[in-house]
Amino acid sequence: SLLSREQIIRFYNYCEIILSDELKKQAALAAMSEVKSGMRIGLGTGSTAKHFVDYLGAEVAKGFECLCVPTSIATMQQAQALNIPLTTLDEIDRLDVTVDGADEIDEQMQLIKGGGGALLREKIVAAASDKMVVIADTSKLVETLGKFALPIEVNKFGLGATQNAVSDVMQQTGAEGGLVLRQSDGKPFETDGGHFILDASFGRISNAQTVSEKLLNVPGVVQHGLFLGLCAKAYLADATGVKQLG
Ligand code: 5RP
Repeated sequence: SLLSREQIIRFYNYCEIILSDELKKQAALAAMSEVKSGMRIGLGTGSTAKHFVDYLGAEVAKGFECLCVPTSIATMQQAQALNIPLTTLDEIDRLDVTVDGADEIDEQMQLIKGGGGALLREKIVAAASDKMVVIADTSKLVETLGKFALPIEVNKFGLGATQNAVSDVMQQTGAEGGLVLRQSDGKPFETDGGHFILDASFGRISNAQTVSEKLLNVPGVVQHGLFLGLCAKAYLADATGVKQLG
């Protein structure tokens, strides 16, 4: 018998999810070429970074040596389960490379990150690395950053005042949308560092440097998800293969 319209749509959506996950895997696999035995490696957070950690775990099981710093509790737990040796930036202050996902990347390799809420640790780890490598499917490649709402990590103290100040920055820099406090299970989402996240809908961010500086000038802002001048290379996968930036 023929499939109903709903069944076809459901099947189509299912195929899209499988394909998108396959592309994330391809990008993660390509980034394995960036790591050599003996390296100190930063481990990103999110569904794409998760594949990279899986590939790394498989190599560790075969004798690959590394010392890694995870960017979130979730990644730490995944790495522990795979017996990947972990350390902290208190023990070692530099890393050779960090491999992480992104929510948006432009041709200049400027990024928006923090969709998973790990942007603060991700930025600390990326900045402590000689090289940051981004892995993603090509749907993350954009002409201008800002369609994805910019995650801004804020201190819980003085939330209302911080929200107002961030809204002012958005107005001054031509944001098209509003600001929302990220929720999870009906409560404000809390980061690994115990902060809240404001998601700022800019629409388009024409001067990322200005937006970055203005946001960091707000006392309650801990960090934001614009990663500027940090990413050195990107592996972006689509159905035709993996393309490289940088
Ligand atoms: C988490 C991040 C992630 O890297 C970003 O959200 C991309 O995630 P995914 O690979 O699941 O699309 O910045 O804070």
